[in-house]
Parts: sequence; structure tokens; C-alpha cells
Amino acid sequence: MHSAACQVLRGNWTGTSTVPSRELYPHQWSWDSAFIAIGLRHLSPVRAQQEIETLLSAQWGDGRVPHIVFNRAVPLDAYFPSPDFWRSSTAGADAGAPRGVETSGVVQPPVHALAAWLVYSADPHTSHRRGFLDRVYPRLVAWHRYLAGHRDLGGHGLAAVVHPWEPGMDNSPCWDGPLERIEPAAPGSFHRADLVHGAASDRPTDLDYGRYVRLAAEYRDHGYRDAEAPHSFAVEDPGFNALFLASEYALARIAEVLDGEPDPHRRRAAALTEALVERLWSPEAGQFLCRDLRAEPDTGTGDGHGGRLVAERSAAGLLPLLAPELPRPVVETLLRTVSGEHYGLGSLVRLLPSYDLCGTGFDRHRYWRGPAWFNVNWLLERGLRQHGAHARADVLRAEVLHAAAASRFAEYLDPYTGQGRGAVDFGWTAALTLDLLAQETATDRASVPAADRASVPAPAGVPASEYVSASANRPGYVAP
Ligand code: SER
Repeated sequence: MHSAACQVLRGNWTGTSTVPSRELYPHQWSWDSAFIAIGLRHLSPVRAQQEIETLLSAQWGDGRVPHIVFNRAVPLDAYFPSPDFWRSSTAGADAGAPRGVETSGVVQPPVHALAAWLVYSADPHTSHRRGFLDRVYPRLVAWHRYLAGHRDLGGHGLAAVVHPWEPGMDNSPCWDGPLERIEPAAPGSFHRADLVHGAASDRPTDLDYGRYVRLAAEYRDHGYRDAEAPHSFAVEDPGFNALFLASEYALARIAEVLDGEPDPHRRRAAALTEALVERLWSPEAGQFLCRDLRAEPDTGTGDGHGGRLVAERSAAGLLPLLAPELPRPVVETLLRTVSGEHYGLGSLVRLLPSYDLCGTGFDRHRYWRGPAWFNVNWLLERGLRQHGAHARADVLRAEVLHAAAASRFAEYLDPYTGQGRGAVDFGWTAALTLDLLAQETATDRASVPAADRASVPAPAGVPASEYVSASANRPGYVAP
């Protein structure tokens, strides 16, 4: 499993970063790269650092980290929307888009500081030698400042997403309501490239795409300036904000290593946790929900927070388990919800589905409307451990590893059958497999003499000097 996962990461490596999938996603994606770096650190800490550095080198002047960094060697028609749609270097000039590289103008969940911390932890020596943290820390701080400033559209400390691509869960049923208000772009006005490589039944519909295009074009036509764009779609998503706070804690750890100030980061993480509970927790649903900032509050029953909670259960609403300071009753409710009828983990299904098994929008094959995704399950595994549910985390880890290998590192799975859907040889699936395997190695490590560990050869195609196991006596996997 280890060598097959390494082979995927080697095959998807472009020289400076990793594509999620050679066919379906042939450029660099923001949150994909963060998850990929988390696995790549076990194969090559240097490549893992480069992965993050390449992404951050395309950061905009206002601090945003774009969700796609385009590879100019890839033909324009290989992916839609292509650079000539986004026109970042010209349309985004006022917002500080870089001149030398083309990017998209929207963002994805801020998992990068967490990734940077984990990459550092895998090999502090190489990180210090390359000045990795010194270079990425100010960029990560600027990224978080962008989210806390430009994107606090609700005015209470949470970052809002302004396009369904931003929370990363593109066609989640949570967006159906907010998207209904958006006039779709005319069907003939764009040409989808995803259907050349993916089955239509696994992908978002044309109607979804029409709305994605309308929203992205509207943002672009306002110069990607948040103060001026109408942001007709504006949602506070619990998954996005859970990753935001987990990354603030990671910035605190990074600041400590750099002899900086960790406390402001910890305070922001605590404030994000508080705002999440205050604004998005639903005791009735037993989980966090999204808040649609553009919806009219229910007459009489408005909760005074502006907008309205979206009455759809998505796995994003379980990810605040990543927050160490979550109130205990909330944690206990979430743990019950994970195994209850809506997600059925451990009884109806082996991996957490992306959406409510009983929801009217559930579709076991279609992208983010039900299928189980590996990054979400990796995050849940981490959240379970965070709150002491180690036995459940162990079972989930074993299931993720089994499913990854059995599906040829699929992009996502039918949660009932485990059958792979979407792309195979998917970057983050392979990377997170390596990460979970490394945890296992940490358990086993005690029984393997250091001399034997040092003799493990680097996998083909990875220079021995870059391979983790090549340096004898280096500390093993360091859990943050
Ligand atoms: N996930 C989107 C796609 O399917 C964009 O980020 O292309």
C-alpha cells in the first residue's frame, strides 16, 4: 500500500507541486496541495515544503490564496474554467493578483498552516536548513488576515465563502437553497471539460455549473474586490471555519518555533470556536449547520444572528471536532451524531458520507451529495483523537486504509458499497494513506531497531537524500 501510494504521488508530481489528478484536475489546487503535503512529508519533506511554497508564491497582495494555480504548460481546454475565464493577472490587479502566474480568484479552506506545521514536524532539521517556516509564516499570517478581514461578511468573526467552490464541497445540498437565487449563465456560454474525464452521474449538473459560472464571472467583473462585489452567495460554513481555527492553533506552534508571539493566534482560535458555537451550532440537528447570510430571517423565529441556518446536514458540520476547546456537551452530541441514523458510521457505512444518508438531496454517487471522501474522513479521524475517542479513530483509520487500497486511491466512494467514483490515483487519497500508515509505523516503531529503519531504501524516482527514512536516528512521526 505504501509503495502504491508513493507511486501515485510520484506520478502526479510536476516538479514544483502535485496535481490532484492527471486528467480531471491538471493544475495545482489549494486545499488539495495542503493535504498532499501532509502525506508527502513522509516520502520527501523537501517536496512537501515545495508543494506549500509553490502555492503560496501565487498568493495575492490582499492575502488571498487562490484555489487554483494554473500550469501554463497545460492546454487551455484541459480544464474549465481556464485562465482566460478568470483573467486574474488583469481583472485581479487591484486586489494584488500576481503578474507572473495565472490563478483562479476564489479560495479554498485554510488548511495550509496546519499542513505547514505537520510538514515542519516531520523533519525540523531540513525545515530549518531551508528556512521553510521563516518564509511561509508571514504568508500564512497574511492569508488568515484576509479571511478575518475581507471575508467576515456576517460581522461576527467567522469567514464567509462566496462561491460553492470555496468550501471545497462544490455541489453539497447545503448550497441548493442559496443557489436558487442565482440566475444561471446561459448553457451555451461555456464548455465543461470535466465530463470528458468524469461520468456525468458522478459530477455536478449543468444547472449547478451555470450558477458557478455566473457567480465567478460576477466576482471577476468586480475586480475580485470583496468590498465592491455583490457576493450574492455568502455562507458561513462550519467546515471552512473549523479548518481556519485548527490552522490558527498551528500558527501558534509555528510562532513558538520562530520565537514569535503564539498568544494572538491562540486567542483567535478560541474566538473562532466561540463564534462557531454561537452562530452555527444546532442542538436540534445535533451538529453544526451552515448559515446563509443572504437569506431572509424567518419571521418571528429569526435567531438574531442575521440570515438563516440551512436545514441540511453535511459532514462539514462535524468537522468542528477539530477544535480542542469545544464545549464537552457539544463534543458528546457530535460523537452520537456521527454514528446515528444520518451518518451511520460503523453500522450503515464504514466511512463517513459527505451528506445526510436520510437527506432528500442524498445521492450516493454524485460528488459532494453523499459519497465518502478521504480528506473528510482523515479530518474526522483527527477530530475523534482530539477528543479522546481513540478506539473509534483506530477503526476509522483501518477502514480508510482498506478503502483507499481497494479503490486504487479513488477520489471518492459510494458510502454503502465502497465502490470508487470520480478519478483514480487521486493525490490526497494517496497522500493521506501515507499519513495514516505513518501513524501505524509510529506504533510499530518501538520494536524496529534504528539501524534497520535507516536501511529502508528510497522508493524509485525519489532521490535518497530527500527520503525520510534515509536519515538514521531522526525523530519519527511527531504528532502536534
Ligand atoms: N472542484 C472543482 C472542480 O470540480 C473546482 O475546484 O473543478
